[in-house]
Amino acid sequence: MYKHFLSIADLTKDEIYEIFDLTRSLKEKTRRREQHHLLAGYTLAMIFAKPSARTRISFETGMYQLGGHALYLSPQDIGIGTREAVKDVARVVSRYNDMIMARLFAHSHIEELAEYSSAPVINGLTDYNHPCQVMADAFTILEHRGKVEGLKVVFVGDGNNVANSWINFAYRVPLHLVICGPQGYPPDAQTLARARAAGHSKIEILNDPREALKDADVVYTDVWASMGQEAEAEKRKKAFMAYQLNRELMSHAPKNTLVMHCLPAHRGEEITDEVMESPNSIVFDEAENRMHVQKAIMVKLAGKA
Ligand code: CP
Ligand code: NVA
Repeated sequence: MYKHFLSIADLTKDEIYEIFDLTRSLKEKTRRREQHHLLAGYTLAMIFAKPSARTRISFETGMYQLGGHALYLSPQDIGIGTREAVKDVARVVSRYNDMIMARLFAHSHIEELAEYSSAPVINGLTDYNHPCQVMADAFTILEHRGKVEGLKVVFVGDGNNVANSWINFAYRVPLHLVICGPQGYPPDAQTLARARAAGHSKIEILNDPREALKDADVVYTDVWASMGQEAEAEKRKKAFMAYQLNRELMSHAPKNTLVMHCLPAHRGEEITDEVMESPNSIVFDEAENRMHVQKAIMVKLAGKA
């Protein structure tokens, strides 16, 4: 049993599906406006070193719906690793709060936070991964396709934190995962090697997006310059232009391919307006499901289900 939620790789396949089952029931209760105060009296400290809309709003609202309270701590508030050492923040904040969610730059910092925290720590994105996002993504695919196992998921673009979490998902759940981007922007090599060695999934790294999109059940993209890489944005735009999800590229995928994006999207860069707004796009279901999945993760970490 996982004590923290730092990476999908830390969960077994059964634990992943248990989160999805709980997500489904919490989502139904939310829709019916049926009270589900499973975390009454609980507090969640949310530490952000980077900006956020979805992560902040979905955790804060989700915690309220569970009967608890969430505190938003902005990049200016704590200065984790700058104003105060990560291990000191961990010990102080976990004396006040039942749970910590953090969005940080270095992945080693969230690991250190977890090591020194007496309360469960949830990873709300690091430079390395974004596990809450990919759990919500997979749940959304499950809702739309009735299964996620065995599907072909094509991640087009940068081998970034979201791509790494998809590889960690494929490490546990059998898939055909393709990461397709230009030379020089690969996902994390160790993460890839571990997932391939586990042998559950077929994982390909391709450079040709037309070839990649063939038979895709899901086409996924994300920004070309992640938070913290703003200085590289212009260089990256040039390197990634051939990977834009536009009408022409999408014509190489089956007609019913699902289109996903973790958001925020840079419309006109990695995805066009037309593809974002197309009937195949499930980006807002995906965004909504962040909240339902994270509620399930919090309830599990608290041992309340
Ligand atoms: N997808 C996602 O994590 O969005 P935010 O950066 O707005 O939280
Ligand atoms: N890869 C993006 C994801 C944002 C949710 C970033 O890290 O900025």
